Amino acid sequence: MSSRIKFFSEALKNMNTFGTVAPSSRFLSKRMLRKIDFKNAKVFVELGSGNGAITAYILEKLSPDSILICFEINDYFYNQLIALKHPQLIVVKSSAENIKEELNKQNLNKTDYIISSLPLTIIPENISNLILKKSFEALVDNGTFIQYQYSLTYFKKLKRVFKEAITLEFELLNFPPAFIYSCKKVR
Ligand SMILES: C[S@@+](CC[C@H](N)C(=O)[O-])C[C@H]1O[C@@H](n2cnc3c(N)ncnc32)[C@H](O)[C@@H]1O
Repeated sequence: MSSRIKFFSEALKNMNTFGTVAPSSRFLSKRMLRKIDFKNAKVFVELGSGNGAITAYILEKLSPDSILICFEINDYFYNQLIALKHPQLIVVKSSAENIKEELNKQNLNKTDYIISSLPLTIIPENISNLILKKSFEALVDNGTFIQYQYSLTYFKKLKRVFKEAITLEFELLNFPPAFIYSCKKVR
C-alpha cells in the first residue's frame, strides 16, 4: 500500500488524533524547518511524527552530533519510524505531554527545538494545555516551538504561553494550506 493511502486509512481510523487526511507536503515540511539553526542546535524533538513526512527533512539536516527524539502514539507509524533505523533518531511511543520525562530518560534536560504537527485543537483541552506548558518548560532559553495549523484558532493559546515572541508564516502548497507558528522562549 502506498504511504499516502496508508496515511489516509490510518487518519480515517483515528480522526480524533490525526486532524488531517494527508501527510505534510514537502513545501510545508521545508518551510517549518527553514529558520532552524541546524549547525548549532544539538537536541530536536518532533511531536506527532506520523509517517515521517517532516522527520525525513529534519534527519537530512541534522549535524552529526545532534539527535532527534520523535513522539508518536499511533502503532503503525511508530513502527514505521523505528524501521528507519537512523543512528541519530530516537522514537518514543509516548504522548507529547511526557516530553520532560522522555528527555530525562535520554539523560537530557532540555531541547533546542520542538517541531510539532499535533492536532492541538482536537486533543482534549486539559491535555493540549499540558503539552504546551511542558513543551515551554522543556525548551532551552531562546529555544523555539514550531507548530503548523490549518486555521488561526490556536494563536491566542500560543500567545498566552509565548507572549509576543511568535512569528507567523503561511504555506499555500499543502493540502490544506497551513499557517506556521514559530514561538520563541524568551527569558
Ligand atoms: C496531522 S498528523 C501529522 C503527521 C506528520 N507529522 C505530517 O506532518 O504529515 C498528527 C500525528 O500526531 C500524532 N499524535 C496525535 N496526538 C498525539 C500525542 N498526544 N502525542 C504524540 N503524537 C500524537 C498522530 O498519531 C498523527 O500521527
